[in-house]
Amino acid sequence: MSKYRVQGGNRLEGTVRIGGAKNACLAILPAVLLSDEPCRISNIPNISDALVSLDILEALGARIRRIDKSTVDIDPTSVSTHEVPHDLARQMRASYYFLGALLGRFGEARVALPGGCNFGVRPIDQHLKGFTALGATVPAVVTNGMIDASADCLIGNSIYFDVVSVGATINVLLAAVKARGITIIENAAKEPHVVDVANFLNSMGADVRGAGTDVIKICGVQHLHGAEYSIIPDQIEAGTYMACAVATGGDLWIENVIPKHLESISAKLIEMGAEITEADDAVRVRMNGPIHACNIKTMPHPGFPTDMQPQAAVLLALGDGTSIITENIWDNRFRYIDELRRMGVQATVDGKIAVFQGVPYLSGAPVRALDLRAGAAMMVAALAARGQTEIEDIHFIERGYENFVEKLHAIGADICRIDIPDAVARHA
Ligand code: UD1
Repeated sequence: MSKYRVQGGNRLEGTVRIGGAKNACLAILPAVLLSDEPCRISNIPNISDALVSLDILEALGARIRRIDKSTVDIDPTSVSTHEVPHDLARQMRASYYFLGALLGRFGEARVALPGGCNFGVRPIDQHLKGFTALGATVPAVVTNGMIDASADCLIGNSIYFDVVSVGATINVLLAAVKARGITIIENAAKEPHVVDVANFLNSMGADVRGAGTDVIKICGVQHLHGAEYSIIPDQIEAGTYMACAVATGGDLWIENVIPKHLESISAKLIEMGAEITEADDAVRVRMNGPIHACNIKTMPHPGFPTDMQPQAAVLLALGDGTSIITENIWDNRFRYIDELRRMGVQATVDGKIAVFQGVPYLSGAPVRALDLRAGAAMMVAALAARGQTEIEDIHFIERGYENFVEKLHAIGADICRIDIPDAVARHA
């Protein structure tokens, strides 16, 4: 068991470098399985979910060679099984991408129902609907926690998604790139990581067009060759540091970002009173004066990302009036507000709407990270609060934020990670 201890109130200043995008990485690593040759992937974030994906590739038989801390060579030619070990698949939500990738490679896949963050019902019916449209057989009922998908031959088809789903869009893309004929995905997700996965597939010789719009056309090819590919920067990691700058009245240069991907976040922070300057691959966020109350609605890209909702909530909780957040993507993403109440946040929640009555300051308290982004929100609150906060269950946070303590420390945060031996933790 480990926790973060934060002494709040320091103004964050300086430069922070953003790592590779978690949600792109977790699809690109399984996508390597589709290649007939080795691939070199760089800008892999140093997060536990990426390590689990590499462990899964290795367990399937891929040969992995680490080139440096963010680059690996992956040789998928020796992979001979289509079954992902249960204990590894359960460790993260995105293990579902191995379904699409293995189905595309072998015409067969067996993966446990995914684990990961719990913020409401997280169905994968649209993924399965897509695989079925390509000619795969998928289970009507999940047995023993496993999903089996198989097809004699995947054949391109038109698929209209009932909801805009990042996971279903990418999974069908993975299954369709080597299918026979043309696949059209309508009502596709447009997130930057969907485009990044399509770009990676194209760099291996796939024929994917329209990624980033709501119609994606995939002409199946027989072979994919090896490629060298660098993953895009993480939009949400960058957005979280932007929120840290606003919460602490700070001044941060956030480097290695694509400013275009941050526009919906920047727009809201500007409304809150932040000054934001864009450079080619960096943004500067400066905050002087009070945080202005405003309203936020989460939407699929290019709307305000749901994965920035908890961090933005902390800022609005410190706003100069009443703010409303409407969560349009997930059913149950306000559970973290109970934790924030321990720090003095005043908010009411009714279904998908949370109303924040701004308070002048927060006070440090012991809190828990209930999921990845809820944990990020605890960190934003802890940095802004008066006094000391201890954040428990940080394994959730480390699923998605690389070197969080080191990066925050370098820009002025008073923070440390405390490792408690298991035997002590059990008796605490
Ligand atoms: C991905 C992100 C997650 C982010 C979410 C929305 C990864 C690993 N995770 O999750 O951080 O919060 O996008 O931006 O990339 N839905 C269905 N049926 C399905 C699939 C989804 O009804 O088969 C619904 C979900 O319940 C949700 C909505 O569609 O209400 C969006 O989900 P989706 O975009 O699929 O999220 P994930 O890909 O799981």
